[in-house]
Amino acid sequence: MRTDIAEPVRLKDYRVPDYLIDKVDLDVKLHPSATRVLARLTIRPNPQGRSDAALILDGDGLSLKKIALDGQLLDLQKPEAWKGFVTPDQFTLHAPPRYPFVLEIETEIDATANTRLMGLYRSGSVYCTQCEAEGFRRITYFLDRPDVLSIYTVRLEAELSEAPLLLSNGNRITGGPIEGTPRHFAVWHDPYPKPSYLFALVGGDLGSIFDEFTTRSGRKVALGIHVEHGKETAAAYAMDALKRAMAWDENIYGREYDLDVFNIVAVSDFNMGAMENKGLNIFNDKYVLASPATATDMDYANIEAVIAHEYFHNWTGNRITCRDWFQLCLKEGLTVFRDHAFSADMRSAPVRRIADVRTLRAQQFTEDAGPLAHNVRPDTYYEINNFYTATIYEKGAEIIRMLKVLIGDDAFRKGMDLYFDRCDGTAATIEDFIACFAETSKRDLTEFSRWYHQSGTPLVEAAGRYDEAAKTFTLDFTQSCKPTPGQDQKEPFVIPVALGLVIPGQGDIALRTDGHDGASAAEIARGVIELSAARRRIAFRDVPSRPVPSLLRGFSAPVRLTYPASETDLITLISHDSDGFNRWQAAQTYATRLLLRSVDRIRAGDPPHADKDFSGALAVVLEESTDPAFNAQVMTLPSEADIAREIGEDVDPDAINLARDALREAIGQDLKDLLRAAYDRLADTGPYSPDAAAAGRRALRNAALDLFAAGDRIEGARIAMRQLETAATMTDAIAALAVLAHIPGDARETALDAFYHAHEGEPLVIDKWFALQASIAEAGTLDRVKNLMKHKAFSFSNPNRMRALVGCFATLNQTQFNAGDGSGYDFIANIVLELDAKNPQVAARLLSAFKSWRSLEANRRILAERALRRVAGAASLSPDVKDIAERSLA
Ligand code: PHE
Ligand code: ZN
Repeated sequence: MRTDIAEPVRLKDYRVPDYLIDKVDLDVKLHPSATRVLARLTIRPNPQGRSDAALILDGDGLSLKKIALDGQLLDLQKPEAWKGFVTPDQFTLHAPPRYPFVLEIETEIDATANTRLMGLYRSGSVYCTQCEAEGFRRITYFLDRPDVLSIYTVRLEAELSEAPLLLSNGNRITGGPIEGTPRHFAVWHDPYPKPSYLFALVGGDLGSIFDEFTTRSGRKVALGIHVEHGKETAAAYAMDALKRAMAWDENIYGREYDLDVFNIVAVSDFNMGAMENKGLNIFNDKYVLASPATATDMDYANIEAVIAHEYFHNWTGNRITCRDWFQLCLKEGLTVFRDHAFSADMRSAPVRRIADVRTLRAQQFTEDAGPLAHNVRPDTYYEINNFYTATIYEKGAEIIRMLKVLIGDDAFRKGMDLYFDRCDGTAATIEDFIACFAETSKRDLTEFSRWYHQSGTPLVEAAGRYDEAAKTFTLDFTQSCKPTPGQDQKEPFVIPVALGLVIPGQGDIALRTDGHDGASAAEIARGVIELSAARRRIAFRDVPSRPVPSLLRGFSAPVRLTYPASETDLITLISHDSDGFNRWQAAQTYATRLLLRSVDRIRAGDPPHADKDFSGALAVVLEESTDPAFNAQVMTLPSEADIAREIGEDVDPDAINLARDALREAIGQDLKDLLRAAYDRLADTGPYSPDAAAAGRRALRNAALDLFAAGDRIEGARIAMRQLETAATMTDAIAALAVLAHIPGDARETALDAFYHAHEGEPLVIDKWFALQASIAEAGTLDRVKNLMKHKAFSFSNPNRMRALVGCFATLNQTQFNAGDGSGYDFIANIVLELDAKNPQVAARLLSAFKSWRSLEANRRILAERALRRVAGAASLSPDVKDIAERSLA
């Protein structure tokens, strides 16, 4: 176990490694509690490094058996004889040879006892590894940093009955039984130099499906997906998604796969979503396994996205990796950007955009508004595990999206080509990346790059003035950004604002400006105005009547934008905007306004605010038949967390919950007949398909049911019960159960029991059952969650179970996590402390549920702070939890 880190790692302290490791030969003999790893490292001094430097290899809790330098055993009892020292966490050689030398290190690992799920561990009976970010040092001593690239050859050996399948990175060279023993072996060789975080091995008894993909230059790639026996058919969709992703990367970016095999292994114990190890992706099985009876449409979409994400890393992450962990967004932001574009191409683009922006706002905006705000490219960190955040991933992707909007598709694609060309085989930086686009666009991107160095969500305030006589419309923009930890003053951001002017009843008009106060020809041609200073004014001419501006179309920048639109203006946009995203946004803005008004009224002791016009606008959308998936998004109100974020300070989660329920009830009553008719009209006919069109109809039908039941609980529960009993898909079953779960009474308990018994053998379905119960906004939920933790299907050590039950309680259940008596905070604090001893990474992530504590009303703030202080002050905390606790309190 590493001891607490007192000093942060700083970007400005980056130095090239003093030694390089060209070759890594691993010989791994798998055994449940005593796996032997013999690492043969070919090391040489780095000509660019310091010539007098000691060789310092990282370790983390290693048990060293022996070590030899150029064939000479080092006497571990007499370190002075070889001038160095060794601890479980470090190996130091003060005066290593100045020529290439070989270090042989033998370690022993108890994979079964590894509860952190970092390094070599077991998921059920399967041996697997997770090395990003710093897990390789739990396998052997190494220069465990992403800028040390080596060629790996791995020999694996295991009992044939225990692990008939032996996989590692690259191509399989040879293998077979070991005569006269019950064991067998396999040798894998990866010809591409890679950092240690991309190393992986798997040994186990798994069921496999195989397929093949021929790249456009004719390379035949054998594809394999390996899952728990009996689940093979549930991997078919993942295989299909993989082949589509491979074709997409060839078509869109000209990137081909570069090995003869590509393997994916699904395991049920995994800290994150999945991992892009070269040629051997390892997945949380939640992102591989899907059948109509167990997976929702959302699960299918997530599988498609995560499969593509990990595959795309082969170029953006593996062929070009990161120089250091400060550059994490170089691979993550870019790869999320690529998987978003892929999903948009596979499905409805506006619907994907809406879903992506919902996630961005829910996770990243919230992070950026609280004590855990950090740069997309941080300049210090205490614990890198804590930087796999929405800011690095989602905001990192938004920056690239903006770049593309600003320089145009052509210069963007050329910039990507240049990046692949120039940086292939290297460990690169954000500066290397941006330089490629500065070159192809001939633009100075220095100011744009502030997005990487300044945290916080900019606020853009827009105002418009129509001059009837002159037929001009003038827009005034101002931008600002609140201070974030360590950053009191912000320089202006470069913000692309895609816009249009909508004339009621007529639609978009052509944009024209005059020289004075005008936009450049390029801006007009693209319909994108660039804000790069604190203020900007733009006047449009030839505007026949007062327009409604449609601003930030497609969510062209990750900012908060306000414009004093009237409610009539919003209705114009909801029904007539040519930009799908902004039609949805106008409905969200309208709903948010109603909700904020209601929250104020509820806190003043008045009844919530109601509004028939909003219901009327939704009615129009409900009746349109063009894109049900889109309509479903419009029918879904902002979440409680969205409303809390809008309010920003002195937040009362109970008032928000009441206001939101009241609005849903009012809409449900106003649109009773229409909702019911939509529900009947959209019933699934014909065979099941997971495609976007069928999923869209299910989404709209279930959104209609949800609102209908909010207006009429008795009839709603009756319909939901019938839907639950007859559902052909998990999408419909879970939607019905969700309706029932939020209506107190015996019917709910009966339905929950029945659901459990119907799906008992499917842990991923039981996770949905846990998550649903954890999110019930009622006072009894904490007790329910505590009881469920004693349920035989719950497991304290399985991250998916933990996230489903405890994680959902902390992040989705705003009223109960933030219960006025502090019981939710105490509960989560206790779990974090208990879990920290087992799995610090998952514990730290759970603790970040407190990230908005400062915006709460005073009483809750005091209670949340008390719980956080209790965690921060506990003895023997992991660096992971300590870091989150301390930054949350700073
Ligand atoms: N690199 C993985 C991804 O985004 C995420 C991950 C990080 C997985 C750390 C495990 C550990 O694709
Ligand atoms: Zn990734």
